[in-house]
Amino acid sequence: MEPTLTIRSSSGEYPIWVGANIRKQAGMLLKDILSGKSKVLIVTDRKVGSAYLTEVSEAFAPFLPVETAVLPAGEETKSFTQYENLLTKALEKGLDRQSIIVALGGGVIGDIAGFMAATYMRGIPFIQMPTTLLAHDSSVGGKTGINHPLGKNMVGAFHQPKAVLYDTNTLLTLPDEEWRSGFAEMIKHAYISNQEFVELLKKKVQSISDLKSDQIKDLLTRSIQVKADIVQDDEKESGVRGYLNFGHTLGHAIEKNIGYGGLTHGEAVVIGILFSMKVSNALQLSAWDVESEEKWLKELGYPVNKHKDLSHKELIETMKKDKKSSKGQIRMVLLPETGKPMIAAVEEKVIQNVLADK
Ligand SMILES: NC(=O)c1ccc[n+]([C@@H]2O[C@H](COP(=O)([O-])OP(=O)(O)OC[C@H]3O[C@@H](n4cnc5c(N)ncnc54)[C@H](O)[C@@H]3O)[C@@H](O)[C@H]2O)c1
Ligand SMILES: [Zn+2]
Repeated sequence: MEPTLTIRSSSGEYPIWVGANIRKQAGMLLKDILSGKSKVLIVTDRKVGSAYLTEVSEAFAPFLPVETAVLPAGEETKSFTQYENLLTKALEKGLDRQSIIVALGGGVIGDIAGFMAATYMRGIPFIQMPTTLLAHDSSVGGKTGINHPLGKNMVGAFHQPKAVLYDTNTLLTLPDEEWRSGFAEMIKHAYISNQEFVELLKKKVQSISDLKSDQIKDLLTRSIQVKADIVQDDEKESGVRGYLNFGHTLGHAIEKNIGYGGLTHGEAVVIGILFSMKVSNALQLSAWDVESEEKWLKELGYPVNKHKDLSHKELIETMKKDKKSSKGQIRMVLLPETGKPMIAAVEEKVIQNVLADK
């Protein structure tokens, strides 16, 4: 089966397969990559593992000896403790420099297993098998890492996968809130790339359940292509990769101030996307009909006004500390029009006024 997409990276090209039930053909599809390797360690979390680990292990077993590591589910797993546990497991099971890691799960597993692969014996290859909608974003681009008690994703490495194998059928066990969260990244990719993609999403997806159909493969492929085009141009994030933060400056601040868990990542990002449009309007860069954009997003169940209950002062303080901001000046991605993102410093006064809907 031909790959759905091929991505260029500094460590060579890698294939992406997107398709229903392809987890069961993992060994076959990855045959060339597995050839000459010593062992595979499949890393997953308890939820994903209980549904898919047996099948995926069986898919690799004819090709290589298979070891497995099952971590707790959730963001807390991106910790030093779990990272060390993984390394211990790998050493105990005799993984060597010819071994290969498979990350079977959402963005959490992709990030920690990828980081483990990046650092185990100074780096061994890994494969992404994303199982959440959000992970169509996180599994491509080579960013891996864990959290530090003082900040999310503060420890990490760029390490490109050897392949991405995306079984769209695994998504069917995802709860709706995870579909909604992941779909926000697709919406983001559409707005920063082209109007036709935005129109397509609006037409095809009028409720979250519309995603749970055959059309998901095409939508995912398009969305991954947008991310791929950007990271191919700017693998180490010195320029255009920053556009992927569209909606994330306020989004991250909301997540932090509401307490992680109060909203999903994607819900916060959607609020951030609308905010960025409002700021672009306020700076007279654009003429977004924000109410009309908001209408579709509301119908999809995004709580577009949730930030209004939060302290604007605290949101602004958090935005000033964002990785993209510097010297206390807020820098964010603005969107003069679909497909034309830009990064700019925005005066605090403007942010204040837009937050207050003035
Ligand atoms: N590396 C990157 O470029 C990048 C980009 C964006 C986000 N991220 C990271 O991704 C993480 C979030 O990823 P996520 O939203 O996928 O979270 P996640 O991996 O925690 O998955 C969300 C929940 O869904 C469960 N789950 C996963 N697949 C399932 C399935 N098929 N069926 C049923 N349940 C399933 C998980 O067990 C978990 O409870 C964050 O840590 C974020 O920092 C990384
Ligand atoms: Zn995001």
